[in-house]
Amino acid sequence: MPVTDSGQPDRPFVAGMYDYYLGGTANSAADRAAVDQITAVLPEIPEGAWANRGFLQRAVTRLVRDWGIRQFLDIGAGLPTQRNTHDVVRDTVPAGEKWSVVYVDIDPQVIVRGTELLADTPGAAVIQGDVREPDVLLAHPTVREKIDFSQPACLMLIAVLPFVVDDDEAYAVVRRYVDALAPGSYVMLSALTADHQSERLRDLLKSVYARTPTPVKERTKAQISRFLDGLEIIPPYEGAKPEIDFVGNWGAEDLVAADDDGARWGYAAVARKPGPA
Ligand SMILES: C[S@@+](CC[C@H](N)C(=O)[O-])C[C@H]1O[C@@H](n2cnc3c(N)ncnc32)[C@H](O)[C@@H]1O
Repeated sequence: MPVTDSGQPDRPFVAGMYDYYLGGTANSAADRAAVDQITAVLPEIPEGAWANRGFLQRAVTRLVRDWGIRQFLDIGAGLPTQRNTHDVVRDTVPAGEKWSVVYVDIDPQVIVRGTELLADTPGAAVIQGDVREPDVLLAHPTVREKIDFSQPACLMLIAVLPFVVDDDEAYAVVRRYVDALAPGSYVMLSALTADHQSERLRDLLKSVYARTPTPVKERTKAQISRFLDGLEIIPPYEGAKPEIDFVGNWGAEDLVAADDDGARWGYAAVARKPGPA
């Protein structure tokens, strides 16, 4: 089955739409039609998707190259396309060294398409799971096989916490994952904010949220920072304070070039769990 065929041609799905925002080919006609409708009113969304993917790529490169991380648990990963985590890890880890990436997504179509796409990549696996069920996920046989929790690892929560709308649940879930990580591990996250969006975009987001069956929640800088309580936030770029910043700014060499409407859709951070690695 070609990866572009979702088997449900008239139903768009989030990960396929996201792939199309990124200019990928693992999407269906329904995904493309849905995106074309959205970008007609919100032309900055593809810029936002790329700002997010750029943050992921820069941060994963540093985690592998500068901080020696070789194991990644990427929850709410979307499709393994458009230079997602395993491509960056594989290309950055020195030849002959072992690495592992476990992609987790709630959408069964991600599992079908992702399994096909990763068939020849033994370091990477994709499993179905819900970020809101950390105990189930942490006990999953594939997670246990690929991630050694006695060693530093990176937990990735990239653009998935907005789908956990209840604040108490969201904070408790992140805490549970962090508790499972060894000292010297890292948490990478990005999350939707309305702090710096135009009135027009804020109104549109509200009306989009109201109609969607899977609600999405934006949070303030203070609310998103709270996810990282007890962790050491890495300064996002040279000379920056150790705090969360716009996704486009993380690891940016030119802050002016990195700033556009799309890059302000959310905040991003990489933080380290204290203790000897
Ligand atoms: C906006 S995409 C982000 C993709 C990727 N992390 C990135 O940033 O490039 C959000 C992904 O989260 C997944 N998702 C939504 N709710 C989820 C949940 N409760 N548990 C796991 N994945 C979820 C969606 O299916 C989708 O693939």
